[in-house]
Parts: sequence; structure tokens; C-alpha cells
Amino acid sequence: MTSLVLTLTETLRYKGALGQWSWVLHRITGLGVVLFLTLHVVDTSWAVFYPALYVEAIATYQTPLFTIGEFGLVACVVYHALNGLRIAIIDFKPVWWKYQQRAAVYVLGGTAIILVPVFILMFNHVLHFYGDPESQYLGLAEVINAQLPFVAGFAVAIIAALLLSAVYGLVAGAPAAPAKGVKHTPHGSQIERFWWSFMRASGILIVPLVFGHLAMMHIVQGVFDITLAGGAVVGTTTANVTGTSVEFVANRWGFLVAGVAIWRVYDFALLAMVVIHGFNGLRLVLTDYTTFNPFLKRASVYLCLIAAVTLLVLGGLALLSTIDSGAIEMAQHAAEALHQ
Ligand code: HEM
Ligand code: HEM
Repeated sequence: MTSLVLTLTETLRYKGALGQWSWVLHRITGLGVVLFLTLHVVDTSWAVFYPALYVEAIATYQTPLFTIGEFGLVACVVYHALNGLRIAIIDFKPVWWKYQQRAAVYVLGGTAIILVPVFILMFNHVLHFYGDPESQYLGLAEVINAQLPFVAGFAVAIIAALLLSAVYGLVAGAPAAPAKGVKHTPHGSQIERFWWSFMRASGILIVPLVFGHLAMMHIVQGVFDITLAGGAVVGTTTANVTGTSVEFVANRWGFLVAGVAIWRVYDFALLAMVVIHGFNGLRLVLTDYTTFNPFLKRASVYLCLIAAVTLLVLGGLALLSTIDSGAIEMAQHAAEALHQ
């Protein structure tokens, strides 16, 4: 806590100019996307395991609160991606460090250049939906209620991480001081070197994957088109006959090109990359603020591990499963009940 307060006050006080604020923005945008990703992977798995809940989840995406959040999410992804590329390129060529202030300005300019047309296209979808008197959307109270299970899930994960850390502390005891004259092997720093490279390499691979995904879900089609009866399903030659979000996902995951379910393979790569990159990023942030307390530092690492493994298993199992006609029928009933 002391460490976090110190960071906040020093960030405001320190006159590190643009580089300092780029670091803060990179951190905030990364954390924002991790939060969304957690909800999103759990939500998506419901298309397979709990179709009625998936209908409710997509209905919450189609409300004014989430529409505002969607613009924020896209802005976070675009800024974080461009700034991440700047970091990766400059770290790869340290002689370019002298250009880093200028590069930070280019990142802000590039973000604006990408966001203006993207926001205009997204706004078109939004106007189309909210301008139609037939459109129905959930009230704020229903949207907030739908998020409560996530709050409970976060609490359980935090308690589990604290308990694991306490058990480890009891079993392992206090770390022994290195004996005099014995050289300390920097084993930890070797692992950290691996993660340092991984963050840069995975960041570069994520750019086409996440931008492709967002282009399909925000530009080619909007979030509102996921439930368009008879509407086309982006990236396939099929139509969403029932107009349920579950059929939308079933059609995408069932679409074969030369016998390969291309969107399942794509989503696997996306899932693996963003979860490992995002939660290792969260670990870096949390351990930064808990270095003063080994118990909390360990719990931070466990928390990220628990969350990443849960999302990889849940998202992976969903991608390996079939969404049958029974699930689509359940989704139809749930959609009717939701808007009664
Ligand atoms: C779109 C392409 C992306 C690129 C090019 C990218 C690049 C990077 C790089 C290079 C770092 C390391 C920064 C450093 O060590 O100072 C980083 C950190 C981070 N990234 Fe990404 N990233 C991308 C996507 C994502 C996504 C989708 C998420 C969330 C799921 C995410 C979450 C984070 C977090 C939380 C950090 C830690 C920030 C910190 O230590 O302050 N990133 N990213
Ligand atoms: C509001 C914005 C978004 C919408 C509407 C959306 C929509 C969807 C949909 C409909 C699916 C189901 C599978 C498919 O059709 O391919 C999906 C899966 C997925 N999305 Fe997104 N997406 C959004 C943003 C993002 C972002 C920003 C990320 C990454 C940080 C992301 C990562 C994923 C992953 C990893 C999967 C696979 C999940 C699983 O295996 O269960 N999505 N998304």
C-alpha cells in the first residue's frame, strides 16, 4: 500500500515529461484490457456451457454503459499496442533511445489517426441501434446485477491466493540469508529475462490477432450485429438464422476452410497470447507495489497464476466443445424471456 501511494504521489510530482506519462498510460491501458479480457473469456465460454447466460452477457454488451466502455476498450488496445511496439523497437535497438521522446509523440499521433476513423465507423453502428425504436436494451440495474458473480469470483481468487501464500510461508519458513563467501546465483533474473523477451515478442504477435478480432467485432460488424436475425456472420458464409448470440458463435466456430475450423484456431492463438501476456503484465504491476512484503508479493504471483490457468482451461475447453442445436434453442428461449 505504502508503495502504491508513493508511486502515485511521485508520478504526479516527478517531472519525467512525456516518457513518464507514456509509462503510466501503458500500465493503465494494459490493466483495463486485462479486466475486460477476464470477463470476456468467462462470458464466451458460456456460449458452450451456459447458453442462457451468454445471451445475457451479450445483451449487457449492447447497453449504453458497455457501449461507452467499448469505445474506451478500443482506445486502450490501440494506444497500448502502438506504445508496446515503440518499447519493443527501442529495446531492440538501444541506440534509438535518443529518439524515444519523439517516438512517444508519434504513438499519440498514431493512436489519434487510427481512432478517428474507427470511432466514426463504430459510432455508425451505435446510431443505427439506438436510433431504431424497435431496439431493446437492459436497464442499468440489470447490467450491474449481471456483474456481481464476477465480483464474487475475484474475491474467491484473491482469498485463494492469500491462503496459498500463507501456507507456503508456513511450510518454507523465512528465507535463509546467503552464507558468507557463497556467491548468489541470479536464477530469478534468468527467468525475468525470459519474461522480458516474452512480453516484447508476444506483444508483436498479438497486434495482428487482436486488431483482426476487433476489426471483425467492431468495424465489419458491430457488437449489435451479433444478434441480428438472418444477419451475416462475419468471417463465414453462413447467416445467423435465429439471431441469437449463441448461434453466431456456433457458426463461427463451426466454419471450415479446407477442413480446418479457422476461427477456433485463431481464437486459440488469441487466447493463449493475450492471457499469458496480460497476466504476466499484471504480475509485473502487482509485484512492483508489493516488493516490501514477501507474503503479499507471493500472493500477487499466485493470483495471476490462478486467473491465467482458469481462463486458459475454461476458454480452451469451450473452444474444443461443440455448440449443438439444443444450446441454440435454449438461447432462443433466454432471449425471449430477457426482453419480455
Ligand atoms: C496489442 C498488442 C500489444 C503489444 C504490442 C504489447 C506490448 C507490451 C510490452 C512491450 C510490454 C512491456 C512493457 C515494459 O516492460 O515496460 C507490455 C506490458 C503489459 N501489457 Fe501489453 N501489449 C499488447 C497487448 C496487450 C493486451 C491485449 C493486454 C491485456 C490482456 C496487455 C497487458 C499488458 C500489461 C498489464 C502490461 C504490464 C504493464 C506494466 O508493466 O506497466 N497487453 N505490453
Ligand atoms: C467488445 C469487444 C469485443 C467483442 C464484441 C468480442 C466478441 C467476441 C466473440 C463473439 C467471440 C466468440 C468467438 C468468435 O466469434 O470468434 C470472442 C472470443 C474471444 N475474444 Fe473477443 N470480442 C471483443 C474484444 C476482445 C478483446 C479486446 C480481446 C483481447 C484482449 C478478445 C479476446 C477474445 C478471445 C481470447 C476469445 C476466445 C475466448 C474463448 O476461447 O472462450 N476479444 N470475442
